[in-house]
Amino acid sequence: MVKISDLLGAVALLPILVSAYALPEACSGVCNNSHDPSIIRRTDGTYFRFSTGGRIAIHTAPSLTGPWTYVGAALPSGSSINLAGNQDLWAPDVAQVGSQYYLYYSVSTFGVQDSAIGIASSSSLDAGTWTDLGSTGVASSEGSAYNAIDGNLVNEAGTRNYFLTFGSFWNGIYRVRVTPTQTNGDAYQVAFDPNDTAMEGPTVFKYGDFYYLFFSKGSCCGYDKDMPAAGEEYRIMVCRSSSPVGPFVDSAGTSCRSGGGTVVLASHDWVYGPGGQGVYQDPTYGPVLYYHYVDTRIGYEDGQKQLGWNKIDFSSGWPVV
Ligand SMILES: *[C@@H]1O[C@H](CO)[C@@H](O)[C@H](O)[C@H]1NC(C)=O
Ligand SMILES: *[C@@H]1O[C@H](CO)[C@@H](O)[C@H](O)[C@H]1NC(C)=O
Repeated sequence: MVKISDLLGAVALLPILVSAYALPEACSGVCNNSHDPSIIRRTDGTYFRFSTGGRIAIHTAPSLTGPWTYVGAALPSGSSINLAGNQDLWAPDVAQVGSQYYLYYSVSTFGVQDSAIGIASSSSLDAGTWTDLGSTGVASSEGSAYNAIDGNLVNEAGTRNYFLTFGSFWNGIYRVRVTPTQTNGDAYQVAFDPNDTAMEGPTVFKYGDFYYLFFSKGSCCGYDKDMPAAGEEYRIMVCRSSSPVGPFVDSAGTSCRSGGGTVVLASHDWVYGPGGQGVYQDPTYGPVLYYHYVDTRIGYEDGQKQLGWNKIDFSSGWPVV
């Protein structure tokens, strides 16, 4: 006899069996050492990947699929910013502005609000060519409205306006106008969830008529030591706006400042805790979402996290992988 509870159990399992997400595309070479990746392609076709740790580890590859090779640290002497954490730099974001490349990085320590977003510049992206320019002026201390980490540069299309979207794990995600090397105005909140402030790592990407604000929500790290409750691990969310500074709403029309956010990618199959994402307009694959994730077949340690990426389908007006 089939019990009603068995039937309910089977129904509840269905969403797990039929994954809504594509598996990560292939990666060869060094695919770990990729926490909070930032990927950019140089005009000669070489891909550069920057990641948290190792004073911003740089890996290069001839293709997005690899093979990735370690080539050195972006800031082998750490940062000149006088804060704890200046030898353990986080969350790089690399952008090209004219003939310069800028690398935004975070100086902080885990769970502390004494933080600053630093910047370095290079004209080639290569290891050994980065000059540390110190703080962007985007900084925070205990009691600040936000935590100055995880900067991401966006240019307002057709203008010379630049904004750094950043934060935060405190009071949500903010943005501030930048020159782009120095802060140039007040910071405004663009995303916040009153029920869950664990949101960080923003990426603003323009596609079609909209600026898409991607961010990571949930518990980022240390899964091998402290496993979050199911569903509370990292996942990638999105809101959108017709302006790079918001207001941003999710696909249900909920404001991103009052808990809104549409899930783009969450744990599925053998992928666990995807986050630290970036988005890149690739000449071969079109728009791609890249991120770090735990491959549950390999292990849950931060150092074991893998680089993942997927093509983004924007045909519905919302990113789908
Ligand atoms: C916050 O949680 C409460 C209680 O679960 C819920 O009623 C409310 O809708 C939530 N607010 C948001 C913005 O998600
Ligand atoms: C990446 O994996 C290799 C091989 O398992 C390991 O030796 C190395 O320490 C890992 N890298 C990091 C940054 O943890």
